[in-house]
Amino acid sequence: MSSNIVIAIDGYSSCGKSTLAKALAQKLHFIYVDSGAMYRAVTLYFIRHHVDLHDHQQVAEALKNIHLNFHSRDYQTHITLNDEEVSEEIRRMPVSDNVSAVAALREVRHEMVKQQQRMGRSKNIVMDGRDIGTTVFPDAQLKIFMTADPKVRAERRYKELYEKNPDITLEEVFENLAHRDYQDTTREESPLIRAQDAIILDNTNMTPDQQLDFALNKIKSLLDPE
Ligand code: DC
Repeated sequence: MSSNIVIAIDGYSSCGKSTLAKALAQKLHFIYVDSGAMYRAVTLYFIRHHVDLHDHQQVAEALKNIHLNFHSRDYQTHITLNDEEVSEEIRRMPVSDNVSAVAALREVRHEMVKQQQRMGRSKNIVMDGRDIGTTVFPDAQLKIFMTADPKVRAERRYKELYEKNPDITLEEVFENLAHRDYQDTTREESPLIRAQDAIILDNTNMTPDQQLDFALNKIKSLLDPE
């Protein structure tokens, strides 16, 4: 039996999952894995190669040609798609607009989950996403389900995106988040849902430091229950 520790952080789009996951990984010296970046990189490949999402065979063939790798530097996500650094490009709107449809595909999920499980087999990791506590690591020692007011989430995301693209509007970002939430929660294949044993963290009115303290306290009481 493996004795590595897995912390699963799931929740809605743009509610600070990766900020908390990175901070936790850094504090605990765990590996951080951004599972959303994997779905985003697959989406980028599908867009570039005009993969028809309704054609299961085309999707399966395309997946065979996709090789993803994480390079951890300063706990930031650096992901390569067939050896090309795509960390920035996968955050742009064309990918954000299409990623939920790609992430709903059975073939895609099957392959990503397999790769994610491999990453967490022998190492201490913090992984964030939508199905980490339910499907990828149902036995994770700590599961956190994050949520926040949709307006607050859109404003936070807008601020981030605006720095790189001043043409973007708050409405556009809000629409994209609402659309992704809807698709992620209603899809057939492992929809976004809180694992029964996940702790809810609503961070609408919390600072990143408060969220980190909250999670560290949970881990402390789990690993050292005295
Ligand atoms: O966390 P994010 O916004 O970068 O995720 C991008 C998309 O990928 C999101 O719309 C849902 C999907 N996703 C998923 O279905 N399962 C995961 N484990 C992670 C992300």
